[in-house]
Amino acid sequence: MTRETTWIMDFELKNLDLAGAAREKADAIVVVVPPDWRPGRDPISRLAADALQSQALDRKNGKPLACWRPDGVACPRVVLVGSGGDATPAGWRKLKSAVAAAVAGLRDAGVRRLLVCLPGATSGDVRSAVMAVRETTYVYTETRSKAEGRALRKAVIAVADAPAVRESFREAVATAMGIELARGLGDMPPNFATPTRLALEARRIARSPGIRCQVLGASQIRKLGMGAFLGVARGSREEPKFIILHYTGAPAAEAPVVLVGKGITFDSGGISIKPAADMDEMKFDMSGAGSVLGTFRALAELRPRVNVVGLIPACENLPDGLALKPGDVLETLSGQTVEVLNTDAEGRLILCDALTYAKRFKPRAVIDIATLTGACVVALGAVRSGLFSNDDPLALALQEAGEACLDPCWRMPLDDAYGDGLRSHFADMANVAGRMAGAVTAAKFLQRFVSDDTPWAHLDIAGTAWRGGAAKGSTGRPVGLLVHYLVQQARPARTAARKATRQMAATPTRGGRPARKAAR
Ligand code: BES
Ligand code: MN
Ligand code: ZN
Repeated sequence: MTRETTWIMDFELKNLDLAGAAREKADAIVVVVPPDWRPGRDPISRLAADALQSQALDRKNGKPLACWRPDGVACPRVVLVGSGGDATPAGWRKLKSAVAAAVAGLRDAGVRRLLVCLPGATSGDVRSAVMAVRETTYVYTETRSKAEGRALRKAVIAVADAPAVRESFREAVATAMGIELARGLGDMPPNFATPTRLALEARRIARSPGIRCQVLGASQIRKLGMGAFLGVARGSREEPKFIILHYTGAPAAEAPVVLVGKGITFDSGGISIKPAADMDEMKFDMSGAGSVLGTFRALAELRPRVNVVGLIPACENLPDGLALKPGDVLETLSGQTVEVLNTDAEGRLILCDALTYAKRFKPRAVIDIATLTGACVVALGAVRSGLFSNDDPLALALQEAGEACLDPCWRMPLDDAYGDGLRSHFADMANVAGRMAGAVTAAKFLQRFVSDDTPWAHLDIAGTAWRGGAAKGSTGRPVGLLVHYLVQQARPARTAARKATRQMAATPTRGGRPARKAAR
């Protein structure tokens, strides 16, 4: 069933006005008409102006109007859609859904070469258009015997000023590839997307220059002393894997950002078993891991000047003769002991050991990404991921990254009083607190495994990583947020270094502070 076909889809950014677009060879052209647009004298402008005047097309509503063989246009299909104009997340979101609607309408047309014209494009518009094309044409093929992949081979994004939007175009294309990798892994059935398969994907990504990968198996995980991670893994026949990825985009001495992704490839709940209804959706419980892999895929393309370490504890959570029992006490890598009162709160058990492991990299920031609690779904739904952080600047940077690329999160509290319920009679702490504020108490549990002086953030993506119901499937979130955050981190580092050099030259006695060494 598994095939090695990769559906190559190429994006190109081009300086092209509507007159040029009319001469371009393509199977379809999507033209986004902005609210303040002034028609030229070319055939596409005349078509759009006519459609606007006769109210077949609305400047704002984002409803596509498909035209067949319009006069003077080389391409047979032209889809007009009114949208865009304001450079805000709301504006970019509108443009994204307008392009998505136009592309979705072409789904059965077998379009191989697509031209998307963005006459009034800002950077955010270009990002939205790239995302919309890539996301709308995604097809899951891995385990279908007769599935055809996406027909689209090439998408050209036509703008008036290509150099002005080139950087965001590059980031968008790389991000879209990362999102697609994360989606593919999330959608993959749990008997395919095993811990071993995730390790294989990591190794594949590590073929790119600048990326290294190391995979630890059960005996190495035991030797390290990851008692909590192993506790969860021992209820399954699948071997657990601890995946370590390194992306080196900056000098090796520069402290890395560490990403930790929850890699439960199937969560049955264990002995505290979940109800049968929709349990299949617990294959998505490795979405945190998928987002780390997707982010590394994007880093491989983009090569920003930043160091990143990815840590993925991967295993299944199943009931078995050897599985964790409620009441079991585990010794974590940190030395702290945990009483397992509910085996379904397994994510925090595998993450706590990975967070302890992260300390050895002397990170400048640690971000864990996990489909951690149903309570977060209740609190925030499918719109925003939950964000918890012990550091205001880090929280702000992640919030801004989320807004900029339409992958938003919302900050939640971490008051110490929320941790009170984690008291245990027989260990240093229990793995669950009461029924209230479940997303927060889970974050409080994780916080016990990070030091106060390391900026740390936890993203609970239980509501955002996949959609249930009729459109069931992985979303690839929060790859966009993570990639944009890392790219933003790369820029200040460069200016900071330049500033430090300048300062040193000016005041040789004070000098700049040396970069923290990443001791290992
Ligand atoms: N993977 C689940 C969280 C989850 C639940 C994600 C529903 C998406 C939808 C996690 O391992 C879990 O089972 N959490 C429990 C924690 C509880 C036992 C404290 C939950 O949320 O019910
Ligand atoms: Mn669970
Ligand atoms: Zn889980």
